Amino acid sequence: MSVDVLLGLQWGDEGKGKIVDFLTPKYDVIARFQGGPNAGHTLKFGDTKHVLHQIPSGIFHKGAENVIGNGVVLDPAIFKKEILALEHFENYDKSRLLISKKAQLILPTHRILDGAYEHAKGDKKIGSTLKGIGPTYEDKISRVGLRVGDILSKDFTTKYKALRQRHLDILSRYDFEFDLSELETAFHEGIDFLKSFQMIDSEYHLNHRLADGKSILAEGAQGSLLDIDFGSYPFVTSSNTTTAAACTGLGVAVNKIGEVFGVFKAYCTRVGSGPFPTELHDATGELIRKNGGEFGATTGRPRRCGWLDLPALKYAIMVNGATRLYMMKADVLSGFDTIQVCTAYKDENGKLTDEMPFDLNDQGVTPVYENFEGWSEDLTEVAEYNDLPQAVKTYVEFIEEQVGLTIDIVSVGPDRKQTLLK
Ligand code: GDP
Ligand code: IMO
Ligand code: MG
Repeated sequence: MSVDVLLGLQWGDEGKGKIVDFLTPKYDVIARFQGGPNAGHTLKFGDTKHVLHQIPSGIFHKGAENVIGNGVVLDPAIFKKEILALEHFENYDKSRLLISKKAQLILPTHRILDGAYEHAKGDKKIGSTLKGIGPTYEDKISRVGLRVGDILSKDFTTKYKALRQRHLDILSRYDFEFDLSELETAFHEGIDFLKSFQMIDSEYHLNHRLADGKSILAEGAQGSLLDIDFGSYPFVTSSNTTTAAACTGLGVAVNKIGEVFGVFKAYCTRVGSGPFPTELHDATGELIRKNGGEFGATTGRPRRCGWLDLPALKYAIMVNGATRLYMMKADVLSGFDTIQVCTAYKDENGKLTDEMPFDLNDQGVTPVYENFEGWSEDLTEVAEYNDLPQAVKTYVEFIEEQVGLTIDIVSVGPDRKQTLLK
C-alpha cells in the first residue's frame, strides 16, 4: 500500500481539516507530518464544529489510527487541552492516537522566544502565531531540541533546565518582558498527561502498517506558499509544508507516496504578513471575508482575502506533484457580479509571466486578471456536481484547463455533507 498526501496549495486554511475528515473512512491511518499548534483545522459534522491543532483530523472516526509524526513540533500544554476537549465525543478513542517519540517538544521558552523575535522585528514581523514554532524548529536543526521520547528519560529535568537556560540567556539580550510561571506549570502538567499516551517509533509503525496492506493518509498543515523553501520567504513558517516533507516527517520512502491531493480555495486568503499579489483591500475583499467567515482558527485574526492566483497555484502544484485537486468554498463566491482570476503577473518592466519571481517582496508584480460572470445562486444545498450553476462549472473548467489537472471535489460548505464529487 502507499501513502497518499493531502496538503494546502495556498497560504494555509484551505479547508484541509474538512477534507481529511471526509476522506478518513477510506484510510486505516491518518498521520500529521509537520507543523504544530500553529495549525487550526476545522471540522464540521451535524451540529458539531471543532478545531484541531496538533491532533490529526481523522480522530472523529471509529477505526482510523491517528499518528503525530516525527516532523511535528508538539506543545504538551496545548495537547492536554485538545484532548480534554475531545473526551466527550463518542468516537474519540485514546488508544487510536499514537505519538512519535521523535516529534520535537515546544517548551514555554520557545513561545517566549517567538514573541521576543517578533517584537524585535517591529513592522517587519512575520505575524507568527506565537506558538513557538520557529524557535522549536531552530533548536531541532541546531541539534539541541528535546523530543517526546526524552520525557521518559531519567535526566529529562536536567535536559529541560539546560535548554531553558540557553533560551533565557538569549532572552536576556532582548528588551522583552515575560512571565514564565503559568506557562511552565501548564507545560509540566502537559508532560505528565502525555506520558499516558502511546509513544511510538512511528517510522517502524507506519512502514509495518504499509507492509500489512494498510492505507495511510498524510495530513499537511499550513500551505505550500508558507513552505520554508518555496514560500514567500521570509514570510513563511519554519517547516517544509510540501509533499517531500511527508517522507521526512513520517519516515516513509519517496517510492511509497501515492496520490497527492492538493486543496485550494476558490479564492485566496492569507493570515500574517507577507506578499499577496491578488489581495483585495476594498469592499469586495471585505465581503469575501464576511461570507467565508475568514477569521483565523488558531488566532482569530481576520484573514486577508483576494482573488484566485493561478501562477501561485501552478507553482504549488509543480513543487508538490499534486495528482488531484479539491476546490473549497465555492459557495462563498455566490453573489458577486464578476469574479476575477489572476492568470499572469506583470513585472516592473511590463513583462508578463506565469512563474513566481525569486522574491515577491522586492520584485513587485501586478496581477493580470481574467473576468468571469458570477452566479447568484446559493450553492450550500446543492447535492450533485452536475446541479451546480453553469457559471460555477465554467469557472471550474477554466481552472482545470489552466493548471492541467482535473478538480475532483468541489466543496460548497463547511459540513462533511457539503462535498461534491465530480
Ligand atoms: P485548514 O487549516 O486548511 O483545515 O482550514 P481552516 O479550518 O483553518 O479554515 C477553513 C474554514 O472554512 C473552516 O472554518 C471550515 O469550516 C470552512 N470551510 C471548509 N470548507 C468550506 C466550504 O466549502 N465552504 C465554506 N463556506 N466553508 C468551508
Ligand atoms: P493551517 O494548518 C494559515 C502563518 C502565520 C504566519 C506564518 C508563520 O491552519 O492551514 P508560525 O507561527 O508558523 O511561525 O507563523 O505562517 N501560519 C498559518 N497561516 N494557516 C496555518 O495553518 C498557519 N500556520 C502558520 O500566520 O504568517
Ligand atoms: Mg487553518
